[in-house]
Amino acid sequence: REEISIAPSILAADITALGTELARIAGADLIHIDVMDGHFTENLSFGPAIVAACKRDCSIPLDVHMMVTNPDETIDWYADAGADMISVHVEAATHLHRIVHRLRDRGVRAGVTLNPATPVSALESIIEDVDAVLVMSVDPGFGGQSFIEGTYAKLRQLSDLCAHRRVNPAIEVDGGISAANVEQVVAAGADTLVAGSAVFGAADPSAEMELLRELATR
Ligand code: DX5
Ligand code: ZN
Repeated sequence: REEISIAPSILAADITALGTELARIAGADLIHIDVMDGHFTENLSFGPAIVAACKRDCSIPLDVHMMVTNPDETIDWYADAGADMISVHVEAATHLHRIVHRLRDRGVRAGVTLNPATPVSALESIIEDVDAVLVMSVDPGFGGQSFIEGTYAKLRQLSDLCAHRRVNPAIEVDGGISAANVEQVVAAGADTLVAGSAVFGAADPSAEMELLRELATR
């Protein structure tokens, strides 16, 4: 694989020192920002002000993962705040096609996200329209959960669907990603690796990202 993107999740960062934390991941390809609304997920996390603050502070593209029940109503806030890519859950979007095209029309890369229990077939009518698919390898809500092993088979099914339709969206995997599984997720078709606790829990987040990249491109 040539093109691997490393996307550290700031959910695992020290939020009292966000600027310092962003400086520690200067080699990242994307900054993954987890938006949780206390409804789609039990947990509540970041809103558009945090996205805007990251945008002011760093030039790395912002990858906003919307874990919210009403993405149809709120994606524009995050696009206005400077998101470069926005992923919405297929389980939550009411008018997914409209959302994807609204994002693309405003120059934001559009991603669609699948929970672990949502089948790849949920993408059959939208796969041609998206820039990215975010495959959850844990149920959303918290960092530090264990990777669900069934994700490998799902990534392979998604790769097959993309090959069959002759499309090439980014394939992102999120949850429980670490040096222990990057080689396998990449072999199964992932090219964008989201990692929270593995990166920010390391003594040297930059070195950890480079380790993940090296394992992924082996
Ligand atoms: C989970 C979030 C993830 C989370 C990953 O709901 O979507 O992005 O930050 O954290 P780790 O890498 O610790 O599983
Ligand atoms: Zn996420």
